[in-house]
Amino acid sequence: MSSPVLITGGGTGLGQGIAAALRARGHRVTLLGRRADPLRAAAEALGCRAVVGDVTSDPEAILDEVGPVDHIVHNAGLYLHGPLPAWTAALWRELHEVTVLGPALLSAAWAARQIGPGSLTFVSSTLAARPAPGTGPYAAAKAGQLGLMQALAVELAPRQLRSNAVLPGVVPTPMTEAPRGGDDPQARLAALTALHPLGRLGQPSDVGEAVAYLIGAPWVTGAALPVDGGLLAG
Ligand SMILES: NC(=O)c1ccc[n+]([C@@H]2O[C@H](COP(=O)([O-])OP(=O)(O)OC[C@H]3O[C@@H](n4cnc5c(N)ncnc54)[C@H](OP(=O)(O)O)[C@@H]3O)[C@@H](O)[C@H]2O)c1
Repeated sequence: MSSPVLITGGGTGLGQGIAAALRARGHRVTLLGRRADPLRAAAEALGCRAVVGDVTSDPEAILDEVGPVDHIVHNAGLYLHGPLPAWTAALWRELHEVTVLGPALLSAAWAARQIGPGSLTFVSSTLAARPAPGTGPYAAAKAGQLGLMQALAVELAPRQLRSNAVLPGVVPTPMTEAPRGGDDPQARLAALTALHPLGRLGQPSDVGEAVAYLIGAPWVTGAALPVDGGLLAG
C-alpha cells in the first residue's frame, strides 16, 4: 500500500504521529504547513515531502503544488481560547476558516480531481461532542467539521470516496502547551489526565494508528471515532 497522502498541519504534534503511522504502512506522504522550518525538519525526519502552504488559501493552487493524492488528512488547526465575554466575530471566523471552510473547499477541489477510491479524514476533537467552559468557538468549529465530514461521506459514497473523523482526547503538543486564560499548561494537563479512564494522556502515535485504520478501512465512511482513552465514555 503506497498510495499518496496529504496531511495538513503535518509538521508538528499529531501531524507527526499520523505521518509516522502512514509511513510505516508504506504511504507516500506530503506534509503541508505555513512555517517552513518545522515543516521541512519533520519531513526530513519522517521521509515525507514538505509543501509550504495555508489551508485557507486557494485550494486549486495547493493541489497543483502537492500533486495527486488519494487521501487527505485534515489535521491543520489552531486553538483560540474563547470564554463567552471574549467572543468576537474575528475569533469565530478564524477558527471557522481553518477548521471548516478551508477543509471544505480543499475537499471539494480534491473530489473534483480524484479518479478511483480515496478518503478524507478529519482530526476533530472530543470537545466537538463535549465542550468545556471557554472552548465554545473551538468546540463549535470542531462540531461543524463533523457535519462537513458526514455531508462529504454521503455525497461522495457513490464514487467510493470515503470521509471519516477521529475525535482525540488530550494529547500534549505545541497546541496544548499554549497558555489558556493565564493557567499553567503543565498543571492543566496533569488535571486533565483524570478525565481519561485509561489513566494517561494520549500520544501522537495513538491518533496516528487510528487515522491509518480509517484510511485503510474500505467499508467505513461517515464515522466519528473517539481516540480518547475512554474520555467520552466516562
Ligand atoms: N493536542 C490535542 O490535545 C488535540 C486534541 C483534539 C484535537 N486536536 C486537533 O489536532 C490537530 C493538530 O493539533 P496539534 O495538537 O498537533 O497542535 P499543533 O502542533 O499546533 O498542530 C497544528 C498544526 O496545524 C498547522 N496549521 C495551523 N493553521 C494552519 C493553516 N492555516 N494552514 C496550514 N497549516 C496550519 C500548524 O503549522 P503552521 O502554524 O506552521 O501552519 C501546525 O503544524 C488540530 O486540528 C487540533 O485541533 C488536538
